[in-house]
Amino acid sequence: MSVKETKKEVVLVLDFGGPYKELVARMIRSSNVYAEILPANIPLEKILEIDPIGIVLTGGANSVTAPNAMKCDPKIFEIGRPVLGIDYGMQLMCHMLGGKVGKATKSAEGELVNVEVTSDSLLFKGLPLAFSAWANNSDVVVVKSLPKGFSQTATAENGIAAFENQTMYGVQFHPESSHTKDGRLIMRNFLFDICHAKGQYKLKDYIDTQINVIRQTVGDKKVLLALSGGVDSSVCAALLAKAIPEQLTCIFVDHGLMRLNEGNEIEEAFANRDLNFIRVNAADRFLKKLKGVVDPEKKRKIIGEEFIRVFEEEAKKLGKIPFLAQGTIYPDIVESGGAYGTTIKSHHNVGGLPEKLGFDQIIEPLSMLFKNEVRDMGRRLKLPPALVNRQPFPGPGLALRVIGEITVEKLDTLRQADAIFREEIETMATRPSQYFAVITDTLSVGVKGDTRTYDRVVALRAITTDDFMACSATRVPFKTLERAVSRITSEIPEISRVVYDITPKPSGTIEWL
Ligand code: XMP
Repeated sequence: MSVKETKKEVVLVLDFGGPYKELVARMIRSSNVYAEILPANIPLEKILEIDPIGIVLTGGANSVTAPNAMKCDPKIFEIGRPVLGIDYGMQLMCHMLGGKVGKATKSAEGELVNVEVTSDSLLFKGLPLAFSAWANNSDVVVVKSLPKGFSQTATAENGIAAFENQTMYGVQFHPESSHTKDGRLIMRNFLFDICHAKGQYKLKDYIDTQINVIRQTVGDKKVLLALSGGVDSSVCAALLAKAIPEQLTCIFVDHGLMRLNEGNEIEEAFANRDLNFIRVNAADRFLKKLKGVVDPEKKRKIIGEEFIRVFEEEAKKLGKIPFLAQGTIYPDIVESGGAYGTTIKSHHNVGGLPEKLGFDQIIEPLSMLFKNEVRDMGRRLKLPPALVNRQPFPGPGLALRVIGEITVEKLDTLRQADAIFREEIETMATRPSQYFAVITDTLSVGVKGDTRTYDRVVALRAITTDDFMACSATRVPFKTLERAVSRITSEIPEISRVVYDITPKPSGTIEWL
């Protein structure tokens, strides 16, 4: 769906690299204003076509004075639209508009700084005169002298914390960070007092619009969806089932590497909807191909290829289907450069399916939504909470959590341990971002009753992360861990020892394989 179809008003978030753009866009959308992320170098003509009510400049790890520093079209500053430059964005405005930037005298490397408001500013309306905000500018430059026509509105230990002229605003800290207590209010001031947003963006309207778009695009033709049971493909299926009941066929390839009862839960969730649901029980096929395979990348490759093969076979049985639907979501699009941009990283969808199967068109009805919005949509479409709140689960499934050769016995043991650990973790008030068990290839001596045992070692892992690029081990209460260990060792005879993995990423990855 393009911007035009979804919005009445849009704020553009220009991306100079770095991880903050999605936080900014999500914060704006959660204020009921539609935000779209575009590459920083988008030409002015494109921006005028989109006709945003405001523009946010954000991100960038390097200095704005570096020879290869990313810049935006300078004409952006001449069209009279409100601009908010955050950190790099502020420095860039300063640099491009004739001010001076220089090395920070005091670095603020991912820490709270004390901001003091020094003059009236709409941006700080309703905020105390002093507040703490999260800043991250260690060796990068900060604003030293203002461009002509700008005035300083706040200071902090590391220099000028905010400046503005009539339409353009810059802050040297991150209002989008949850550590900036009043950050949401600053963003709302920008949206509603400065950009005069009406705040009309609602997910419910998005669903209605999207249903119309799907109906218009598809007409009376058929659509095929590869349903993995993950949040994205499940919500995509539920939306399509609502838009074009009876024209949708979902193929769920059960590779036998799902968690305990997961295959049945997925089937149940879709059993009573208006769609054709095909479950292919292909566990034997996958296990046969995986026999004797130990190398993680080989496991991934085999599973990916076998998945395509099974899907192809099933699809062929259905005859010609013109449309393939995919649950691609907005971060996938943003990370692969969006509609206009340079490729940052290609995103993974159902690899190779379109070319192989000769679909005429791909439809991606969630491609403008963030994960939290996709979950919200799932709730509105009445998907069961267990599916909507599902933690990320890799496509190759438990294959990444069985060290060494994958066997039915190891899978069964892992499933039981994993289910117990998940049950215990789910008693926590705030859940980790991802939590699971791993079965190792190590045997260890134990004692059960009077008997000496020599059985499997299982590892438990729970991590906390914003973006899955880095993570820390979750400080699960010791009592919870003890309960999990006690249950695992007493309920599962094949396990003699349980360890808890506290490796952060880096240096470890989240999955063991
Ligand atoms: P790592 O282990 O790379 O994981 O730190 C980061 C996130 O990606 C998931 N993951 C995968 N997902 N296919 C997937 O669909 C894969 O091959 C794969 N490997 C890792 C992992 O569960 C975590 O959420």
